[in-house]
Amino acid sequence: MKKARIGIIGGTGFSVLMENGTTIRVGTPYGPAPAITVGVVGGKGVAFLPRHGEKHTQPPHKINYRANIWALHALGVERVFATNAVGAINIKYRRGDLVVPVDFIDFTRNRVQTFYDEAPVTHIDVSEPYCPELRNILLQAAEDSGGRVWGDAVYLCTDGPRYETPAEIRMFRGLGCDVVGMTGLPEVVLARELEMCYVSFCFVTNMAAGLQERLSAELIIEDSRKLKNTLQTVLDAAIKDVSWKRSCYCSRTLEGTRV
Ligand code: HPA
Repeated sequence: MKKARIGIIGGTGFSVLMENGTTIRVGTPYGPAPAITVGVVGGKGVAFLPRHGEKHTQPPHKINYRANIWALHALGVERVFATNAVGAINIKYRRGDLVVPVDFIDFTRNRVQTFYDEAPVTHIDVSEPYCPELRNILLQAAEDSGGRVWGDAVYLCTDGPRYETPAEIRMFRGLGCDVVGMTGLPEVVLARELEMCYVSFCFVTNMAAGLQERLSAELIIEDSRKLKNTLQTVLDAAIKDVSWKRSCYCSRTLEGTRV
């Protein structure tokens, strides 16, 4: 069933433009994934998966992250670009900034975190949680777009669906976090568990709670839509620069992980 080697996971307000797109449904051991569009971007086969479902019906805490990642893997995807709307915790950041996280802190509590629920007991390494090769490619493409770009950010994931309190944001800042979102985990870890390269392409839709007057999902979605063209331009450029040779460790993740 191999169809595409590059995957794009679209977050709030983002879908991707591609040539010859056909929509397919992939069943997985974890249930169905949202309809995936497979097509061509810059001459390369790309599979686009809308994380929240075709009609944006899945809230962040109910997304079937295992089905989504499994489905992309089943299509032959080796390298994943994931888009994530985020609030800025770091006061140097501004709305509209582009962020490519280098690390994360996981504050989710109610999500299935792994494909490896049974023997053999498997502990994967996340010393470098986001693929360094894809990060370099994406950072270069983002910088070339002329936007403000941060490449050293720590991403904090909450369960949602509510936004955070100002006290939580102060605590997260004290922990060294730069941006907050609800969908980055466990997606990045599940991709690594299946030895896929994964990078998160975040865009700041708002300053986090306490740093602006109120948070409004409506305004956040509006801001996501405004950034759509920039995201598409950056992803197109990044996809052009992806080579099939993987020199990172992502493809060898499972070596030495089993007890
Ligand atoms: N908090 C959590 N998730 C988000 C935010 C936020 O401020 N903005 C966009 N996604």
